[in-house]
Formats: sequence, structure tokens, C-alpha cells
Amino acid sequence: MSDSRSQRAPEPTKTKTLSMTRPIPGLQYDWTAPALVHFGWGRRIELAKTVRTISGANSSGAPANRAFIQGGSRTLAATTAYADLLRSLRDDGLQVVELPVQSREPLVEDVDAAVMLLRTAGAGPGDVVVAIGGGSAIDLAKAAAAVSVQPHSQNIGDYLEGVGRGLTLQVRPLPVVALPTTGGTGTEATRNAVITGVRPAFKKSLRSILLVPSAVLIDPELGVTVPANVTAWSGMDAITQLIESFVSCRRSPLPQALAREALPAAWNSLPVVVRNGSNRPAREALAHAAFVSGLCLANSGLGLAHGVAAALGSQHGVPHGLACAALLPLSIRANLSAVRPLYAELALLVGAAPPESDPDLAAPLLLDAVYNLLAELEIPSRLAAFGVKREHLDALAEGSQGNSLNGNPRPIGTEELRRLLETAL
Ligand SMILES: [Fe+2]
Repeated sequence: MSDSRSQRAPEPTKTKTLSMTRPIPGLQYDWTAPALVHFGWGRRIELAKTVRTISGANSSGAPANRAFIQGGSRTLAATTAYADLLRSLRDDGLQVVELPVQSREPLVEDVDAAVMLLRTAGAGPGDVVVAIGGGSAIDLAKAAAAVSVQPHSQNIGDYLEGVGRGLTLQVRPLPVVALPTTGGTGTEATRNAVITGVRPAFKKSLRSILLVPSAVLIDPELGVTVPANVTAWSGMDAITQLIESFVSCRRSPLPQALAREALPAAWNSLPVVVRNGSNRPAREALAHAAFVSGLCLANSGLGLAHGVAAALGSQHGVPHGLACAALLPLSIRANLSAVRPLYAELALLVGAAPPESDPDLAAPLLLDAVYNLLAELEIPSRLAAFGVKREHLDALAEGSQGNSLNGNPRPIGTEELRRLLETAL
């Protein structure tokens, strides 16, 4: 029998220490998404329940008592569906406070005014901001819900990338429930809000992980009253987001898998829904693709078309979706040699190339298919159609640099971009 006192103490376990500074090669990605998503035809009737769920899930645990509504357009605000939504909230015992409807992409002044209204009303725990409309309404709601509760400044300009004091959000925003109606921007899934300045002209983002909406309620039926041209532009925005995120230098496997699933149906459905706005399967496919495109851009970034679209919007007043659509061919042309196999895969997905195609032959077919789709939707792809002249190109190229362009498959400097834009005049 051995004497326990004579036993040697166990050797200290040798553990491998992992470096805290060196990146580990191999598969890496981040993933951001809204915590709660409800999708389906007619499901807007679940708005009050969603508001209560989100309010109860916030850090204060306070029950919902007020819903601040940010509506997206006067046309939408005049619909029966919109009135029914507000009534359903009141019937559920919620106090409804309507913020002024804005029928434009949100300006700095629009956000500051909405922030002032929220602060004057004492919005805080137990209150929820509900955005009903297109990307503009949702961006405005996200920005106002965030800035209104910050302690250091209540001016949106102080938080915008590359514009003001570069402040970051310190306090969790008021919870936001997003009900997208136009099926395009995907901002219901993203961590940024795009805000426009007039003097000087800019489109810049408020960006924070805290900006992802708390809940998303997508009812494709809300899209049936959207005019055909807005449907076409916002649908092309979604398609551009799916394509640019798929080839982005920040591309990652989850968004790519989602894009593979959503793109074919969106591609085929867009012309159908532009011709017949109440076609249910086509509306569903498009609303789904729009949401998925938001997940993709939030997690993979975008590219040239979105970089230039921001400048085309702020400098020439071109609506976002229309600008993205018009610039998609240029984006593909500029990146064709850098990501040829990925474009070839997309060409296969949308039926532009036969299975087993040689990537060298299939990739350019995607470009042809985009031109055909734009022609079918009567969307121009020449910059001259938007009043852009040669003398505007320096400012356009300069204003395009930023976050979206940073996601492009290959770096494109201002000089090269100017030359590329000249080919699209
Ligand atoms: Fe977009």
C-alpha cells in the first residue's frame, strides 16, 4: 500500500494558450439579424402582439403603453390598411402617437424634428417606435429612436459617419418594430440608417449594432398599393443588394446561402409584380428577397453600385433604388475579372446561363440578363438619363467613396471610378 504523502503532486496541466492578437486563418464571419421576424400575407394583424412582445423584452421589462408611429408616405397613410393598423393598436389598449409622415428620403432635419417630438413626449421605457413604409420611413424611425435617448447629443449629425463629431451610441435605442411596405431596401434587417444632408450634399449612415430593429413584421399584402415604378425601383434595389453582397470582398457563407435561395424567385417575380401589383406569389417572393437582401448587406457589405448610388442620390436627387438599378451593370462590368466564377454562379441561378457552363462564358451572360431586365422595367442605365454631365463626374466619383464602395470585390480609387463613370455617361 502506498503512502499518500509520498505520492508526487500531479503535474500542472499544460494548456495551449491562444493568441489574442493574431488573426486565425480560415473560415471566419460575423452575423447580425433582428431577434424576431414574422413573415406572411395578412400578418399585419399581429402588430399589437409584436409591440407588446418587444416592449416586454426590453431591459426595463416595462409593459408597452405607447406606440410612436413613423409612417412612410401620405399615399400609404391614406389607405384603409394603415388606418386599420393604427386602430388595432388602440383596440389593444395602446396609446398611438403619430410622428409626421415624410414622403422623402430622411433629411438631417427630419431626424432632428422626430427626436425632438420623442423627447418632448418623454418617450422611454414602455414605449415602442413602429415604422410603417419603405426604407425611408424605417431609416428615419431607427435613427430617431436611437438619437432621442442619447445623453450627449440629440443631433443626428453628431453621429453620422464622416460628417460630425463622430459620436457613438451610448444607450440602447427605443425598441423599433419595422413593417416594410415597398419590398426593397432591406433596412428592416440592417444596422445602419442612411440620412441625407442638403448643404453640404451627402448621404451618410448612422451605424451601430444597436440599430438593428427589435422586430420585423413583413406582410407582403401591404405592397399591393405601391405604385409600379416604386415597386420596380425597390425590387431592383433588393436584387442589386443580393448580387453585390454575394461578390463583396466581405462575402461570407450564410448571406451567400440566403442569396442563392432568394435571388431566382425575386428575379422572375419582379416583372410580374410590376405588371400586376396584386399578384400574391410574386409579391411574397419580392418581400422575402428584400428582407433577405437586408440580411446579406448587413453581414457582407455591398459594392460599387451602392457607393455611387449614394452620391447620385445626394448630388442629383435620384431615388436610391432607381440609382442602384441603373448602376448595377457598371458594377458587374467593373468587377467581372475579379469575381468571374461568382457572377457565373449567379448567371446560372437566374437562368441566364445553361447548367455546366464555362464560368468564362457564363459570367458575362449575367450582365446581358441585367440589361434585359432593366429594359423590361424601363429603367435607364446611362447616367445622362439623370442629368449627369461630364463636368459632374469628379464630384460624383469623390462622393462615392465610403462604406459601400469599401465592400467592392476589388479596391477602386477615385481616379479609376471617374474613368468607369465616364463609360456609363
Ligand atoms: Fe440599396
